[in-house]
Amino acid sequence: MQLIDGKQIALQVHAETRSAVQALKARGIVPGLAVVLVGDDPASRSYVRSKDKMSHELGIHSAKHELPATTTQEELIALVEKLNADPAIHGILVQSPPPPHIDEAAVIRAIDPRKDVDGFHPVNVAKLALDDPSGFVPCTPLGCQRLLLASGIDPAGKHAVVIGRSMIVGKPMALLLMAKGKGGDATVTVVHSRSRNLAELTRQADILVAAIGRPGFVKAGHVREGAVVIDVGINRVEDPTAAKGYRIVGDVAFEEVAPKCSAITPVPGGVGPMTIAMLMANTVKACRQISGV
Ligand code: GUN
Repeated sequence: MQLIDGKQIALQVHAETRSAVQALKARGIVPGLAVVLVGDDPASRSYVRSKDKMSHELGIHSAKHELPATTTQEELIALVEKLNADPAIHGILVQSPPPPHIDEAAVIRAIDPRKDVDGFHPVNVAKLALDDPSGFVPCTPLGCQRLLLASGIDPAGKHAVVIGRSMIVGKPMALLLMAKGKGGDATVTVVHSRSRNLAELTRQADILVAAIGRPGFVKAGHVREGAVVIDVGINRVEDPTAAKGYRIVGDVAFEEVAPKCSAITPVPGGVGPMTIAMLMANTVKACRQISGV
């Protein structure tokens, strides 16, 4: 059983990003990323801090905007429009999910698609569906694809089953795996909370991607012997013995599933570090495209 080391593979991506940032700087261009958080959800707050910190480490200019939970939709969109017009900013990310009074889709539509490094804007969703490489692909599925490639796992011709149909992971993951070319060419099935015979379908997977947000949902009975399992879940579960009072677990019951797999990602240290690495890479891509270099 191969344990897929996301931390190590993320370091490779960071090395590429760092040298791309240096090359841009040599031409007098500094990539800039704006990260916007509305409200004080602890998990979102910690993600936003990590993104800000990683930008600094890679030489990317970072603008962190932490807004109160009472921020109105108009105020948030006004900030997005200001960032759209800011020449020092090439990437804009509004941390999801926002508080319930915010219409997230409207905020996403307000982002200039050329700066939409999350790949959530309808223009970028369309570009992914159309195999247009100028678009931005959501960071988590892009990171999952990179994990597979870096581990010598070629999806071509294999049956990939994606559990979950979210805008952030499930749907773009399915599109990436079925796209023509490197990292794609798979036969893709998407299953979700309303699927009948879910385990029967997941047991057919050569590559199983779990992105449902339910701790330990995928059990040994869901997995075929020799499958590759990519666990996208980042779930906080209460743990009085842990220093913080919680621990992070994936969507896969690792202990019982891992022995059946040919390869599996751990949580933490699998997909998580890749999401941020691909965000930084997308920011450099946006900067290059906007600057025309
Ligand atoms: N929330 C969970 N994952 C993501 C992500 O990739 N981008 C944003 N903006 N919010 C998220």
